Amino acid sequence: MWLCGHTPHTDNQLMGWGLPEVSGDAGVDRFLAAARAAVGESEVLTDPDLTAGYAVDWTRRWRGSTPAVVRPATTDQVAALVDAARCHGVALVPQGGNTGLVGGSVPGTGAEVVLSLRRLDELGPVDALAGQVTAGAGVTLAALQAHAAAAGLAFAIDTGARDSATVGGMIATNAGGVHVVRYGPMRAQVVGVEAVLGTGDVVSRLGGLVKDNTGYDLGQLLCGSEGTLGVVTRARLRLVADEPQVVVALLGLPGVGEAVALASELRHEVDQVRALEVMEGDSLRVVATFLGGAPPVAADAGAYLLVEAAGRVDQTAALADAIGRHAALAAAAVGIERIDRERLWRWREAHPEAAAALGVVLKFDVTLPAAAIAEFCAVAAERLAAGWPGATTLFYGHVGDGNIHVNVVGPDPDDNAVDDVVLDLVVGLGGAISAEHGIGVAKKAWLGCDRSAAEVAAMRAIKHALDPDGILNPGVLLP
Ligand code: FAD
Ligand code: MLT
Ligand code: ZN
Repeated sequence: MWLCGHTPHTDNQLMGWGLPEVSGDAGVDRFLAAARAAVGESEVLTDPDLTAGYAVDWTRRWRGSTPAVVRPATTDQVAALVDAARCHGVALVPQGGNTGLVGGSVPGTGAEVVLSLRRLDELGPVDALAGQVTAGAGVTLAALQAHAAAAGLAFAIDTGARDSATVGGMIATNAGGVHVVRYGPMRAQVVGVEAVLGTGDVVSRLGGLVKDNTGYDLGQLLCGSEGTLGVVTRARLRLVADEPQVVVALLGLPGVGEAVALASELRHEVDQVRALEVMEGDSLRVVATFLGGAPPVAADAGAYLLVEAAGRVDQTAALADAIGRHAALAAAAVGIERIDRERLWRWREAHPEAAAALGVVLKFDVTLPAAAIAEFCAVAAERLAAGWPGATTLFYGHVGDGNIHVNVVGPDPDDNAVDDVVLDLVVGLGGAISAEHGIGVAKKAWLGCDRSAAEVAAMRAIKHALDPDGILNPGVLLP
């Protein structure tokens, strides 16, 4: 019989891997009784009308059902829930803002309970001396950005999902976004993490030490772990200097190759570049139809590059000089005032929505060496058009760090041949199958194309060690 209460894992459990014997409906009922005791009746949702929204993702491609959504508000409550899940053999799907794009944030089998971390939304005071802040896993990116700004600092990550994406989700996916070219991804902002591991143990390193080589860095291990090793409850995050002088330019160019070349030049010539975003010409024209307007520059360009520079002094002249030196440039629209900058950014940020408006999207977030990006876009476009003549494909992304998003609308979302075409090409060109969204459910069958057998075995060993019963997001990441 399984005793409720914290049970450190045993060697036996490490050797096997599976949920304890009391899984199934009886296990779920017992888990829910324990959950109600831990978080209160009102925070255990079982009404299908209330749980349905937690079981479908932003893309509408990944949908399942769940017996319950449980909403803890403290680390102790999360630990009690993980203990109860182990005890009763119930799988948990950690969920933050549910903006993930690889199917990792929603239940698949119908038996998994959703562990919503949104109520862990406490924000500590900004530590101006250290340039850091401690944030709960449920704090949204927008709230964190506003909190830092109120203290005269900034949080380095920015994405179009800022109003919903949470600190815990961004750590779990190692989110990237538009400022990676300057500040790195989420893992570069993480100074320390507090989490409940799949064993039920709480690990906490929130002291804010920038240099700390005391053994394995568990916080960094949780970055990109997609809810499979532990539940992030709080994080110590670095903040960066505020950059009040911002300039944005949207440039029309002959093609993706010219956009890659110009992005590279601007990175080297303009000190304060913090975003370099590419949009293939036809993709931007899909966005134009979606937005109901004409592009602000060169309506027929082969590709567009959006560049943002920001600092303490005005970057406009430096950016204009660097752009002016580039021979291939077709046209530019510049935004200095906030409203103008936001108008230009809208052309880039509307890409996911414009694609989703056409139907269920097969989304890819690949990463490539700079020298291979143009070839990748051209060959992928050709092969997809040949294989699926009626499909619409959008290419856009964070070209400054090599991350291209491919959105394919039209083919059956379960048609794996589309994934084969895109991901085989990426791997063949020396790229990787995920730059920032993670593996989730969407790409787990392709993990072995990109990672060696030894690497996957090491990942499995880590999973066994930190989640011996396989209760955390069991359908995600590892095939
Ligand atoms: P969720 O979607 O809830 O979960 C994502 C994964 O993290 C799941 O595997 C889940 O189990 C796990 N998880 C969530 N919370 C926790 C926790 N507390 N502990 C452990 N595991 C947890 N991503 C980018 O990287 N760059 C972008 O530019 C970008 N732009 C986007 C734009 C739009 C319009 C949308 C819809 C999404 C975008 N995304 C982007 C994807 C998404 O926003 C990120 O993956 C984000 O980090 C997910 O955060 P979330 O809180 O919504 O996590
Ligand atoms: C983006 O860069 O817009 C996001 O990663 C979302 C997407 O890929 O659609
Ligand atoms: Zn992106």
